[in-house]
Amino acid sequence: MVVSSATIDSLLKEGEQYVPPKEFTARALVKDDSLYRDADKDFEKFWAGQAEGLHWIRKWDKVLDWQEPFAKWFPGGKLNVSENCLDRHLTDGRRNKAAIVWEGEPGDKKVFTYHQLWREVNKFANVLKALGVKRGDRVTIYMPMIPELPIAMLACSRIGAIHSVIFGGFSSKAVHDRVLDAESSVVVTADYGYRRGGLVALKKAVDEGIADLSIVKHVVVYKRASGDCAMKEGRDAWWDDLMAKADDWYPPEPMDATDPLFILYTSGTTGKPKGIVHSTGGYLVGVASTHKLIFDIHEDDFYWCTADIGWVTGHSYIVYGPLANGATSFMYEGSPDFPKQDRWWKLVEEYGITIMYTAPTAIRACMRWGDEWPQGHDLSSLRLLGTVGEPINPEAWRWYYRTIGGSRCPVVDTWWQTETGMILITPLPGISTLKPGSAVLPFPGVSAEVVDETGAVAGVNKGGYLVITKPWPAMLMTIFKDPERYKATYWSQIKGKYFTGDGCRMDGDGFFWLMGRIDDVINLSGHRVGTMEVESALVSHSQVAEAAVVGKPDPLKGQVLVAYVVLKSGNHRSPELVGELKKHVRAEIGPIAVPETIYITDKLPKTRSGKIMRRVIRALVSGQEIGDTTTLEDPGAVEEVRKWLAAVEGKAP
Ligand code: PRX
Repeated sequence: MVVSSATIDSLLKEGEQYVPPKEFTARALVKDDSLYRDADKDFEKFWAGQAEGLHWIRKWDKVLDWQEPFAKWFPGGKLNVSENCLDRHLTDGRRNKAAIVWEGEPGDKKVFTYHQLWREVNKFANVLKALGVKRGDRVTIYMPMIPELPIAMLACSRIGAIHSVIFGGFSSKAVHDRVLDAESSVVVTADYGYRRGGLVALKKAVDEGIADLSIVKHVVVYKRASGDCAMKEGRDAWWDDLMAKADDWYPPEPMDATDPLFILYTSGTTGKPKGIVHSTGGYLVGVASTHKLIFDIHEDDFYWCTADIGWVTGHSYIVYGPLANGATSFMYEGSPDFPKQDRWWKLVEEYGITIMYTAPTAIRACMRWGDEWPQGHDLSSLRLLGTVGEPINPEAWRWYYRTIGGSRCPVVDTWWQTETGMILITPLPGISTLKPGSAVLPFPGVSAEVVDETGAVAGVNKGGYLVITKPWPAMLMTIFKDPERYKATYWSQIKGKYFTGDGCRMDGDGFFWLMGRIDDVINLSGHRVGTMEVESALVSHSQVAEAAVVGKPDPLKGQVLVAYVVLKSGNHRSPELVGELKKHVRAEIGPIAVPETIYITDKLPKTRSGKIMRRVIRALVSGQEIGDTTTLEDPGAVEEVRKWLAAVEGKAP
């Protein structure tokens, strides 16, 4: 927000700040703070106003029906998400505008105009119908970053099926668990995906994952590479063959605003991932409005979110938000350093990208590779930058701002979660003063607080828990098949408020400074992994008896995992076994969850009641002192853990 003179003193103490360039504000969609004031007066009216921007088949009866902790947004309203993202733009002047522009890692290119994308989605909707998918059925999608992935998602939304996209970096075991939980009868995949010049065998992982799942009746396979993969007679079919026979019109199913649009699995504090369920109407209102106002979307923008669609960032800000707004969304299949470390900057230059949205971990990697890579390219088309996924350290923020943004592009540091569906805490680029490392303020219509464990509002600059105090349109509806877990995870810690699981402090200007997770969920290079999941994976190895996994700060990746493992008797520590355990975690969850270091130890430090002292291990590994030892049965335990750590880490794994 614009800073008043009364706060200058405290701001000076806060350090540097950046005001939006005048030329940016002059052209910005939001030029003053009236949105905040209007939304403060009546948040339901504010969200109803945002909902007016969509196409409704039937208008809602009510904006919000709040039966804590279950929110129904726009009940009575009917709409179709694919109609809002596609059909609408066939008659509003965007018919021949590029909707998705894509480049594959090997350098192949594709452009889909809104009309072309609409045709493909209609055809794939007919393919799914022909495979027996009905409204409300779940369809699992496990694909590389190719345009057919959003086509499959939009086709699901067209027929009212619920998609469950699984990140292509997850293992066959993860595919198994998620297909089983979602009870999908259809899986959509590809033969391979490209990653760092190599091939990722997606179809093979599907085959292994669903080998014992009789619920899966059909697997649709897009031929991305050689097509050289096993096809099971009667179950598997090629995407192109099915599409060749499909009609190019399927009438959009009128969905209730409160029908689920998708499930996305995310890590929690137990070993079992949670199926986060998002709604149709509220979700679309939330992502369309935040995308438009936070990224200041103009008709001529070329917007690029570098996330993978397997994560919520890709769902909300590559697919649904941008397409609902009739924007041009750029998609890139591969890694930023292939074939060289300037691939991203080459893409920005070649396509004339104007808005770029990425993660701090990627920014730090680029920073480490050196300025010569971006400096070899003309990045002057950029006008706005964004980050998401973890707290950004001011040094990386400054590098992004100067070296990539040429000191002329505001940086929007956006805080949100899989569960929140949409960005909740963020600057608005035309009006917000920026402080590197702060996500600034709740979006208009969103109310957040920092509280202590009793729920009392924490004082200025006092750390506490971030909670959201009013429902917001894109909030998760529930956890799939587990409403009790939904209540327990988000609504039981602080009465009447949504518990985010993040630590935070608010400064004297009301700016929010996120401090990372306070539970056993770790952000690894912007990916979310529960330490319990990794522990379960380790103990599922035949030689492992017990495991404790904690996060450790890392200058490049933000956090890395460190595992302490106790072997079953009769087994012995060896470098080969450590290698095997890493391979095992990779196979159970995926490469992202592999611990950086695995220490094999004789015992784990435990409380007298037998619980592993993860909190103490985590704090000591992170170099923090344990402030509050009152909840420990034996405060002397800290010393014991310290000694234990020194002994374990003194020995080579
Ligand atoms: O800890 C917060 C961190 O990422 C978590 C959510 O992870 P996930 O559900 O995978 O979604 C990531 C993309 C939306 C949060 O609980 N996080 C996300 N954005 C930020 C952040 N931490 C600090 N600053 C952010 N901008």
